[in-house]
Amino acid sequence: MLRNEVNQRFCFLTEFYDPSAALIRHYQVFYYPSDGAIEIYDPKNNRIFLKRIQLPTVSFKDLYKGNEINIFSRLHKIADYGDEYTRKYFEKTRSTTYGMIKPDGYMNIGKIIDMIYNVGGFTIGKLKLCRMSKENASIFYAEHQGKPFYNFLIDYITSDFIVGMELIKEDAIKAWRSFIGPTNVDKAKAEAPNSLRAIFGNGGKNTVHGSDSEASVKRECALVFNKIRHEPYLTNCSCLVIKPHAIKEGNAGKIIDIILTEGFEISSMQMFYIDKIQAEEFFQVYKGVLPEYSQMIDSMSCGPIIAMEIRQDDVVNKLRNLVGPQDPDIAKKLRPNTIRAKFGKNRVFNAVHCTDLEEDAVLECDYFFNKLASYKPDY
Ligand code: GTP
Ligand code: MG
Repeated sequence: MLRNEVNQRFCFLTEFYDPSAALIRHYQVFYYPSDGAIEIYDPKNNRIFLKRIQLPTVSFKDLYKGNEINIFSRLHKIADYGDEYTRKYFEKTRSTTYGMIKPDGYMNIGKIIDMIYNVGGFTIGKLKLCRMSKENASIFYAEHQGKPFYNFLIDYITSDFIVGMELIKEDAIKAWRSFIGPTNVDKAKAEAPNSLRAIFGNGGKNTVHGSDSEASVKRECALVFNKIRHEPYLTNCSCLVIKPHAIKEGNAGKIIDIILTEGFEISSMQMFYIDKIQAEEFFQVYKGVLPEYSQMIDSMSCGPIIAMEIRQDDVVNKLRNLVGPQDPDIAKKLRPNTIRAKFGKNRVFNAVHCTDLEEDAVLECDYFFNKLASYKPDY
């Protein structure tokens, strides 16, 4: 039976890590699409934990498995669907696929990510830059072993960094394969000129990959997100973090594109979902220094962030110059070409964090790409 729109209610099972008790608490979070309100039920104590209320920090787009939603500064991880109605609805409308930017797409990573968000309408649930070893490439392309183009394919895919992505959309496998276009670049240019392979591909290199079945999605995601370990360089580096609001506003690709076209190297990049404790750990040097410290901590944990290790000579200074002053209003007046002038909204929602002091650069990159990357192998 169809529920009418006003009464439509979705249910999610969430996990909240309670630091004072050092345990994970389980809740049912209800979402009412008619007015965007949420309600929380505590199944253990059999009572309503939070009465139905509209919250600016949670919107319909934020509801997908694996995401963390911010409810009064508490981060609830969406662990599963809470009823069959919700499962059916979301498995159809928020299905996932695995997409990948191949090595020849490196300079276009920002442009491709921008198209993924703003033209394709996909949500990126996971993202990771890494290298594929010959061994992993032969697992990834096992079905093509023995074909005449196999060696070319393995050399191609192992030649430099790839960017693996879990992509979310209705009928995602099909939608993504249609968005990337035909396998053959010439055919793509002729038949699907707006597809990613037509725009970014060249000759035998078709720049992007898309899974062809649900089984491939599982296998490919497991390989890239759980098995492959990416080692950061931790030399001549600085750390840049795209904040959740900038990702939600669809600006992640544009920011990455500026970094690359300005001649910086992105040597590590991964999407993380950090909680308040991790945000505090990362920003501890700002405690008591920045007046908006606690808002900044909240703003970092209301959705995914994208952390990057950036390399160049004198990179900490140069990157800080490109990022601009902390306050976007000042940046707009004095340094209109900076990232914060273009994508920042105020001192808290200022689009990106970047390493301030030379001596913190290695620590910050190490925090994400060694500590968190191994702490949360799923991401
Ligand atoms: P992927 O998303 O990369 O898996 O492409 P696909 O699913 O559209 O094609 P398929 O899995 O059949 O082939 C995998 C990759 O092998 C392609 O992306 C091409 O790079 C390469 N490839 C496939 N067929 C040929 C071919 O006939 N000649 C050459 N040179 N390369 C091919
Ligand atoms: Mg294929």
